[in-house]
This record gives sequence, C-alpha cells and structure tokens, in this order.
Amino acid sequence: MVESDQLENFVAWAKRRGVIWQSSEIYGGIGSIYDYGPVGVEIKNRLKQRWWREIVISRDDVFGLDSAIIMNPKVWHSSGHIELFNDPLVEDQVTHKRYRLDELEDPTKSPEGNPLGEPTQFNTMFQTNVGPVFDESSTTYLRPETAQGTFVNFKQVMDSSRAKIPFGIAQIGKSFRNEITPGNLTFRTREFEQMELEYFVKPEEADKWFDYWVKQRLQFYVELGLSTGNLRLRKHPKSQLAHYAKATTDIEYKFPWGWGELEGIANRGDYDLLQHQQHSGKDLSVFDEDSKTKYHPYVIEPAGGVDRAMLAILLESWQYYPRSRKGDEDLPEGEGEIVLSIEPTLAAYDAAVLPLVKKASLVAAAKRLAKQLTQAGQHVFYDESGSIGRRYRRQDEIGTPVCYTVDFESLEGKTKGTVTARQRDSMKQRRVKP
Ligand code: GAP
Repeated sequence: MVESDQLENFVAWAKRRGVIWQSSEIYGGIGSIYDYGPVGVEIKNRLKQRWWREIVISRDDVFGLDSAIIMNPKVWHSSGHIELFNDPLVEDQVTHKRYRLDELEDPTKSPEGNPLGEPTQFNTMFQTNVGPVFDESSTTYLRPETAQGTFVNFKQVMDSSRAKIPFGIAQIGKSFRNEITPGNLTFRTREFEQMELEYFVKPEEADKWFDYWVKQRLQFYVELGLSTGNLRLRKHPKSQLAHYAKATTDIEYKFPWGWGELEGIANRGDYDLLQHQQHSGKDLSVFDEDSKTKYHPYVIEPAGGVDRAMLAILLESWQYYPRSRKGDEDLPEGEGEIVLSIEPTLAAYDAAVLPLVKKASLVAAAKRLAKQLTQAGQHVFYDESGSIGRRYRRQDEIGTPVCYTVDFESLEGKTKGTVTARQRDSMKQRRVKP
C-alpha cells in the first residue's frame, strides 16, 4: 500500500517500469493527460477484460456496444449536457488562478487567502468541428460519458439482440472532460476511460435492481484485490444528485490523499430515453406483454472509471521495503525493494522465464520454455541479462507472479525438464515441471 510519503517514489516507479507517465512528456507534458507504457497497458487491458467478462460474457442479459466518441451534437443538447454539464468556476482576483467553487473549503476566499470573483458556469465538454468548415454549424463535442452513445442506440441493440426487459448494454471507451481542477495522478484527468453499464428495467423494479448492482459492483472491486477496509459506499444526498439521477451510491476507495469515487451507481429513471425520444421524434418506449401498454424503462447505471480502478489497484498492491526482503542486503539509500503484489490474473505478465546464467544450452532451453508457455496462452517475459537476483527484483517490481529459472538440473538426469519456480510474494522456490 502506498502511504502518502511514498507517492513521489510511486510516481518515479511508474515511469521507470513502463506503467504510467505524462502524455507528450518530451514536450513537458500536457495538463493532466497520461500515457500507459508496456506494463501499464497490459494491466489496463486485463482490468477491462475482467469487467467485460463479468458484465457481458458471463451474463445472458447484457449486450456489448462500441459507439463513436464523436456524435451528432443534438445528442448533447437532448441529454442536457450543453445546458447542465457545468462546474462552478471562480477566479482568484490576485493570482488569477481558477478553482472549482464546490471544491474550495471557503467559498469566499482562494486557497491563497485572496478574494474571489463572481462564479461563472464552465462547461467541461471539449468542442471540436466536423468537416472542413469551422463554424457553429459544424461544432460538436468529444463525449464526456459513454452512456449517451448507449441511449441513442437503445432501440437498435434491443431489436438486433431480441432483448427483453430487464437487459443491459455495456461499453468501455474513452471520455473527455475539460476538468477545472484535475489531479492526483490519473484520478481526475481530462482524457480517461469508462466502463459503463446501462441496465434497463421496469420502473417498479428499479429499486431492487439498484440494490443488486451496488452489491455486485462492490464485490467486483474486492475480487480485484482491494481490501474491504479501503472501500466504502456513499449515498448521495438529494442536493448532490446529477440532473438526471433519482438516486446515486458511489463506491469509494481510500486513496493516500483521502476517499475518492471509483464508480457511481445511479438510478437515471426514464430521463434519458424520454429526452432522446422528445428531441429525435423516435419512439423509444417498449411494450409490456402483461399489461399490453407501452412504457419507458428506467435505467440503473453502474459507471466506473478504468483509470481510477487501475490506480487504486496499483496503489494497494505496491509494497516498499527499505531493506532487502531477504534481509541479506542493505539497499542504497532511497532505493528500497519494490514489489507489486497485484492480483495474479491482473499482472502484466503471467510468468518470467530466466536462464540461470547466459550459457548457450540454458538460453536455448529457456527460450524453448518461453515459447511453449506463450503458445499455451500465457504472457511471458524472457530475460537473460544481469544477475539472477536482480532479474527477480525486476519482475517483482512489475508484479510478475512467478519466475521460472532454467538451470543445469533442467537439462539432464532425473530433473531434466524441471525448473525452479520462484514466487513473487513469498520468494519461495520449488522445482516444478511447467
Ligand atoms: N454516465 C455517468 C457518469 O459518467 P460519472 O460519475 O461522472 O458518471 C463515472 O463518471 C466514472 O468515470 C467515475 O466514477 C470515475 O471513475 C470516472 N471518471 C469520471 N470523471 C473522470 C476524470 N476526470 N478522470 C478519471 N476518471 C473519471
């Protein structure tokens, strides 16, 4: 677990080990936008696959979707985002720094203690233009949530999948918000990824499904390795509800800087389908076979952030040891041992394969083993450079759960074909035939 005094060390590790760093870093970066390196992208992909498997593949009542990031701007007028997707912006009258009013401790003074100007409403959607003419008629927006792509596709998905209420539509994809005060690494960024499920239910069953999804989603984070003591549910008071929501409960995680939202589960009622029906002129109601009447389903929406979940997982599983874990080595000042004790199925690599020393016969056997494991579907890291202890430490740092070392015993006699399997967390070693 990363303590707040280790955050700098964590950030340096993330960069050094190919996990996360600032976007366009060689140019000094760009305001709170991040890139994922070779290790980071693997962990992120596994996290997304895990969500997809649980929400879409393992259920027969949820269907997948990949809607476009850029949509007809009428979508955003109808959804209320153009009018209401605003944050209250205030400016320090001395430094001219800008803040979100609702995040300030004192609504009359800036954190520097200076007076503030009148609040204005700042729309956080990024604008762009479609086509070669840059005027109002071509203006549209990068989506601030994937959900609206789901609502406008509701009828197509229902009809093409022959779905019956209750059913859900799930998607994972990028969203964009020009946040006034981004920060805390990838916790609040301007480009991020969401995993959102819109689950359509009969209005009278909305409360039941809301409770069901809150439980399911909390369990998901526990299974990813987040400890229950670092997770909590927070029900929004009526005054804090978004313009579309009848009820919302957040799943929060105890980050080193305090509690923060990982995912929100909202009861959006029939707000979105009614808005899109009214503005598009298309009938988005469904027919109830029992009562022989038409109605608009309510939507229960578990909406999570990929980057936030990943950050929580990394922070939780990152361990720092100021001395070597074996106690046999004093590490240079400030260069303690780092172990990413990540849940093994989320690790970037399933296993590392290492020849004990760089000798032709061992290298050939290790390469054969790496190929065999890769063909069996594992993601394998092959490494022959440096001392074996150093190579173990490198794998510990990126969270590889097991290292297979090919040694001389692997090549001959009774032990032929066996290797040493060394576990990341316990450092225990035993001979196995992988
Ligand atoms: N469709 C509903 C919706 O978008 P939200 O609470 O605004 O609800 C859902 O966003 C999730 O998306 C959040 O719980 C969070 O994990 C993630 N998220 C939202 N804004 C983010 C940002 N600026 N940076 C990173 N993740 C963000």
